[in-house]
Formats: sequence, C-alpha cells, structure tokens
Amino acid sequence: MATVLPVQYDFLLKRFNTFGIEAKAKAYLPVTSADMLSHAKSDDFLARLPRLVLGGGSNLLLTEDFPGLVLHMQMTGVQVTGEDETAVYVKAAAGENWHGFVQWTLQQGFGGLENLSLIPGNVGAAPIQNIGAYGVELKDCFHSLTAFDFNTGNVFTLDNAGCRFGYRDSIFKHELRENAAILDVTFALPKNWQANTQYGELAQELATQGISAPTARQVSDAVIAIRTRKLPDPAVVGNAGSFFKNPIVTKAVRDALLERHPQLVSYPQADGSYKLAAGWLIDQCGWKGKTRGAAGVYEKQALVLVNRGGATGKDIVGLAVAIQEDVMAKFGVKLEPEPVFV
Ligand code: FAD
Ligand code: EPU
Repeated sequence: MATVLPVQYDFLLKRFNTFGIEAKAKAYLPVTSADMLSHAKSDDFLARLPRLVLGGGSNLLLTEDFPGLVLHMQMTGVQVTGEDETAVYVKAAAGENWHGFVQWTLQQGFGGLENLSLIPGNVGAAPIQNIGAYGVELKDCFHSLTAFDFNTGNVFTLDNAGCRFGYRDSIFKHELRENAAILDVTFALPKNWQANTQYGELAQELATQGISAPTARQVSDAVIAIRTRKLPDPAVVGNAGSFFKNPIVTKAVRDALLERHPQLVSYPQADGSYKLAAGWLIDQCGWKGKTRGAAGVYEKQALVLVNRGGATGKDIVGLAVAIQEDVMAKFGVKLEPEPVFV
C-alpha cells in the first residue's frame, strides 16, 4: 500500500523564514525520517515538483511564491558515537536547532563549537555554507555527514575533505546543489581543547570581563554577549544575518584601495589574498540605518539587511542591488549575496 505523506498545499512560509517574508509554497512536507524523502521521491506528482530543502529558514530570501515542494527537515536526536585519543565524536540530526546543540555539547563538557554559539538555524544546514563566526568555522570540528541523494534515492556519507569546505562555501553550493538533503552531521570535538580567542572583538570582550584563560562556556557567553549587542533578533526584526559575503581580493587590489582609503578594513588570508569587511564598504557608502520602502539596513551593522515590516523579497533584492551598485561605483568591488535566493 502506498504511504500517505502529510503534505499540505498552498502553505504559508512566513513563520519559516527569518526575514518574515510572506510567500507561499505549492506543497509542504514536514520530514521526520529519511524514508519520507524516499516516498516523496517515488510519488509521481511530488517527484515532478521543484524542491526546496528547508531548515530554520535563516539563510534564505524568498523572492516570490515557491511553485514546488518544501521538504522541512525535522529529524531530531543527538548522541555520542565514539571517542579516540584525540576527539569525542558526536552526531546530531538535521532538524536539531544549532544553538541548542552547541549548548548541549558545552553541558557535556565538550569544547570546540563555542565560538559558533547563537548562530540561528539547524544542524542540517550548517555544512551548506560552512557556518563561521569569531575565528572558527564548522569545518574545524566537522567529521562527516550522511545525506539523501535525490537522484539515486541512496544515502551517502561525506568526510571533511569530501565536503570541499571554503569561506561560506561547500560542495552543497556546487555539484550537490538541490540534489541532496543532509540527514545528520558528526562532529569531532577535540580532547586537547584550547580556547580560540584570536578574533579581535572576542579577545576584547573577554579582556573587558577580566577573563584571561577562558573556559569554553565563558567563550560561548562572550560570543552570545557580542552577538546580542550587534545583530538583530529575527523574532523582533526580520533578517538573514550578513546579507553579503566579505569579498576576497588580491593583495594588489587591496593595496590600491588602501592607498585611496587608509581606513579600509581588510584581513590577510593564508593564500596571500585579502578579505575586505563588506560592512565597512557599505557603511562608507552611507547606507547604515537607511530605509528603502519596507526594506532597510540595520542601524548597528551595515552588512545586515532587515525587513522593516511587510517587505517582499523583491523589496529586499531592490535594496541589495542599490547597495551593490554604490559599492561598485565607490570601491570597484563586487558584493555577492550570502543567503540563498528562492
Ligand atoms: P535555511 O535557511 O533553512 O537553508 C539555507 C540553505 O541550506 C538553503 O539552500 C537550504 O535549501 C539548505 N538546507 C537547509 N537544510 C538542509 C539540509 N538538511 N540538507 C540540505 N540542504 C539544506 N551564518 C554564519 O555562517 N555565521 C554567522 O555568524 C551567522 N549569523 C547569523 C545571524 C542572524 C541573526 C541570522 C538570521 C543568520 C545568521 N547566519 C550566520 C546565517 C544562518 O544562520 C546560517 O547560514 C544557518 O546555517 C542557516 O541554517 P538554516 O537551518 O536556517 O538554513
Ligand atoms: N564594520 C563597519 N560598519 C558596519 C559593520 C562593520 O565599519 O556597519 C566594520 C567593523 O568595524 C569591523 C569589520 O567591519 O571592523 C567587521 O565587522 P564584524 O566583526 O561585525 O564582522 P562582519 O565581517 O561584518 C562576519 C560574518 C558574520 C560573523 C562575524 C563574526 C560574513 C559575511 N559575516 O561579519 O557572519 O558572525 O563576522 O565572525 O562573513 C553571517 O554570515 O550571517 C554572519 C552574521
């Protein structure tokens, strides 16, 4: 007998995207097992629809109604799967809330993920753009993941090298884009944990609190304090975090910019290139705190675009394009959006 999936039609996505955009999905399926993905794949009607795998909706921009099937990953569960001399291995299901999972690891006494505290979204989406903050990226503690392949219907495993992680990048933004749903992620949390406080603002926060040898808990608390001060809470103001990636340029480009703009904020990368602070570039163009229709630029962080109330995806895109044009005209630098446009 065919399995009946609890699909809902003409489903409102406003509650499921942190920008708070009012858009509808043609079909919506809460997914609580890999089997449900298999059944959706073998359903004649559902299999023909375009697919969107959804987590917490915190890195998405819904530009219009989605004419396809939203697969909302809701599997839960966290477990320690093993250990060796170097690490403890912890597996978390895709639908686990990221911050809740980080806090759970800290409660067990496992360090490693504390710098990534308070990033919105779910575990299953964390590898997609190799989430990063305050000097740490997911890849630093990532061991492996399992995912469902929509082409073959098989479940496969990828290790750290196989994910081809980069700055806000992974294989899931290239070959595997729209072809796979991550089911769970396993982390290798180091036994010889050492605090990573190289990020200037984090070091400063700990110094202000008079902490010189922080525990993982203290690093997490410091990160939470910084983030709460300067990033908008999506429950209050719709947003998707940084709207643009920090552009990477050659040393020659950075040197030329620095000559014209001595205050330019840039960070040297291991390969000799430089990362420019997009927030600084946008700020210099006078956009911070500005409003255009129902879309705006956050008052405390120019890299964050916000929904001032009732914005459509197109309002946000219009503002983003105006910002890109100004940054290009003033600095000759191209800004690339970070959220996924749907
Ligand atoms: P969604 O928005 O639901 O999806 C994002 C993408 O991943 C989509 O392409 C979706 O199809 C895909 N996807 C989701 N789940 C799966 C899955 N299980 N399998 C396959 N594909 C999937 N990001 C950072 O890196 N660093 C930060 O410091 C940071 N700060 C933020 C602060 C705020 C206030 C906000 C709103 C966002 C911030 N972000 C940050 C962005 C966002 O939190 C991360 O990208 C997060 O990992 C997105 O998770 P999500 O579950 O909400 O993904
Ligand atoms: N800046 C300004 N004006 C602004 C904003 C920033 O001059 O309005 C300057 C700051 O003074 C600082 C520099 O830009 O010197 C960098 O700012 P910040 O430390 O706030 O970091 P960011 O580059 O804006 C990145 C990530 C964040 C991550 C933080 C902390 C990207 C695209 N963004 O922001 O990630 O939390 O560093 O590591 O890499 C996200 O991806 O959604 C996100 C929030």
